[in-house]
Amino acid sequence: MKTPELPPFDHKPKKYTGLSPDEILRLRKEYLNPGIFLYYKKPLTMVEGKMQYVWDESGRRYLDALGGIVTVSVGHCHPKLVEAANRQNELLQHSTTIYLQPKIVEYAKELASKMPGDLKVCYFVNSGSEANDLALLMARAFTGNYDVIALRNAYHGGNAATMGLTAHRTWKFNVPHSFGVHHALAPDPYRGPWGRDDVDAGKKYAGDVKQLLDFATSGQVAAFIAESIQGVGGCVVFPDGYLKHAYEHIRGAGGLCIADEVQAGFGRTGTHYWGFETQGVIPDIVTMAKGIGNGCPLGAVVTTPKIATALSQRIHFNTFGGNPVVCAQGKAVLEVIEEEKLQENALKIGNRILTGLNELKQKHDLIGDVRGKGLMLGIELVKDRRTKEPAKEECAQVVETAKDMGLLLGKGGLWGQTIRFSPPMCINEQDADFLLGVLDLALQKA
Ligand SMILES: Cc1ncc(COP(=O)(O)O)c(C=O)c1O
Repeated sequence: MKTPELPPFDHKPKKYTGLSPDEILRLRKEYLNPGIFLYYKKPLTMVEGKMQYVWDESGRRYLDALGGIVTVSVGHCHPKLVEAANRQNELLQHSTTIYLQPKIVEYAKELASKMPGDLKVCYFVNSGSEANDLALLMARAFTGNYDVIALRNAYHGGNAATMGLTAHRTWKFNVPHSFGVHHALAPDPYRGPWGRDDVDAGKKYAGDVKQLLDFATSGQVAAFIAESIQGVGGCVVFPDGYLKHAYEHIRGAGGLCIADEVQAGFGRTGTHYWGFETQGVIPDIVTMAKGIGNGCPLGAVVTTPKIATALSQRIHFNTFGGNPVVCAQGKAVLEVIEEEKLQENALKIGNRILTGLNELKQKHDLIGDVRGKGLMLGIELVKDRRTKEPAKEECAQVVETAKDMGLLLGKGGLWGQTIRFSPPMCINEQDADFLLGVLDLALQKA
């Protein structure tokens, strides 16, 4: 089978004259945090990006089907975003909330207009970890309760508070961090006790939240937090009704419901603007990062005016939160999603890829499960479909082979056994076919 070719694209990368990959690697080893990891045995040096593509130092183009880890929502260096950020950079780069500033309020108004119900008070921070940390504080201050229920297989960040919410041993240091946090069963229809053939699966998984309330807490909790689709955990889509039942249990115990939309928000699921809407619920607090800024350090927490009053008991301040440059870029992201109909595109192209992935499942026994919504998709690789033994090495190999053929993919799951697809939402049909063609070959090789 011939290696598929990338669709034509009208952009000539600049000639790269910077440090060589070997030199970057040497300096990285000498001067950067040793806890970071590289995706590939033969690392990729990324020097330029335009829309759904990136280029390496030699001028070779790749389709970025991971979107900078689900962050490049509307396209690398999208011209409208570059223009908005440049314009603001030349005018005023920094102010803080001690002064009046137009960009932050213009942006907050636009962001709030995307939210359902009474969710309209915005807090701006710099990352997803900070957003979740703040959401926890808010829920505890508002309810007067301390305990929190999160889900196994979740990723909510790596700072002190959110490492406690995260539930993969790989991201948790051996220090005290999970005080007051209880982890319920991951509502994973592939690996969990109730599968997709069980119409009551959502209710049954939510029953574990109730069990925790009854057996692990005082019966009163501050919050429940869940991603709307588990991203780092390997694109785990919850059974219908799960969040509805879990929220009922939590609200019955005096708690608030927090939706972590860091990966699933901003139209990525295709059918809805927010991931939680696919489950028919309205949370009390929504946290956002990654795709909200298309790559700039922007995070947000949106809640109701009533809950926000809890944080007015003390001063709340964040030096860079709501910085005029990132607010200008964040506002441009919202506009581009609308103007270019990117949510609709996520649905159309996502469905095309999903159909292709299901066809590949018929052909390759390595694929144990195909799942996802819109442009948040995953395939879980297993050595044996019956035992579901995670195919970690095979997954790494497929991802490496795909890169060598010009396709960047993601990995997820505790064992790194799930291939993740979360490209910028501007991806087109030819890109989707290229992706499927490369994947077919890479799976064949594995
Ligand atoms: C669902 C989710 N929440 C929170 C975070 C933490 O975001 P950040 O890395 O910006 O702190 C991540 C990061 O991957 C995430 O996937």
